[in-house]
Amino acid sequence: MKIYALYFSPTHTGQRIVQAAASGLALPLTEYDITLPAARKQFLAAVPQPAADDVVLLEGPVYGGRLCSLALQAFGQLKGTGQPAVLLALYGNRNFDEAGQELYDLAVQTGFRPIGFGAFIGEHSFSQTLAAGRPDASDLALAEHFGKALREKLSGTAVPLKREQIPFCPRTPLIRSHGQVLKGLPGPDVDNERCTGCGRCVAACPVGNLVQNKETGKAENTRTACLHCRACARVCPVQAVDFHGTSYAWLIQNCQENFGRVRKGNLLVL
Ligand SMILES: Cc1cc2nc3c(=O)[nH]c(=O)nc-3n(C[C@H](O)[C@H](O)[C@H](O)COP(=O)(O)O)c2cc1C
Ligand code: SF4
Ligand code: SF4
Repeated sequence: MKIYALYFSPTHTGQRIVQAAASGLALPLTEYDITLPAARKQFLAAVPQPAADDVVLLEGPVYGGRLCSLALQAFGQLKGTGQPAVLLALYGNRNFDEAGQELYDLAVQTGFRPIGFGAFIGEHSFSQTLAAGRPDASDLALAEHFGKALREKLSGTAVPLKREQIPFCPRTPLIRSHGQVLKGLPGPDVDNERCTGCGRCVAACPVGNLVQNKETGKAENTRTACLHCRACARVCPVQAVDFHGTSYAWLIQNCQENFGRVRKGNLLVL
């Protein structure tokens, strides 16, 4: 028996929760990190299917109250044969709305038997104050404890979860409007004066939206696709990547003001 973990995690909060839960499960771990384009392409070209006695961990970030579609697309390529599945959604202290049930439905459709669901908090990609520094030590300890509890569940009859056990909250008009605003935005600007051409942002982009200029080596936004995940800004050592414009400022301010006052807990269903 081993853990088959499949995840998409541009700013690594989900990856850290997966690894902490896996450490609690205390089984050998095979990780499929499909965040970067090359890894995702390789995975999708020849999908490694879980073995019959694997425990499957599926994890993705919540974007606009739903599970990130790139994660869902990859999860949908799996062909389960009734393996127990642990479903994990990472969200930035607002809400995970429809993401939990979306993940549950896909896991069942692809042939798995969900035995655990966890909605964990990770620092909000848009902000340096919303859920700042999370998952922190107590979140990671809880994820590990969750893994231990799952291990115990697996040693018994491991009754599968029912759909109605997964919390569901329909997305509000405000959240739908956030999504519409984001769709029209171009992604980051690169400050050419600051950029040293180190290429870290290019390497961190999950959709290949940033490239290095062939002549100058400096990073450029191709404006072909942007998830607004901010992985690029987080890795830049000289703060040359930023998101300008009043729409970004409004979104960030709105999220921080409305959802930044309360430290939310993680939600576990076993
Ligand atoms: C485009 C976008 C939309 C997001 N929407 C939500 C949301 O609806 N609710 C929420 O609580 N957090 C939201 N977040 C925050 C992420 O879910 C959170 O930062 C998560 O920890 C990112 O996971 P990762 O570090 O594994 O990439 C959003 C982030 C992005 C980039
Ligand atoms: S360019 Fe967009 S998609 Fe790429 S890392 Fe930056 S924010 Fe994420
Ligand atoms: S990470 Fe920063 S310095 Fe490095 S290429 Fe990107 S923008 Fe330039």
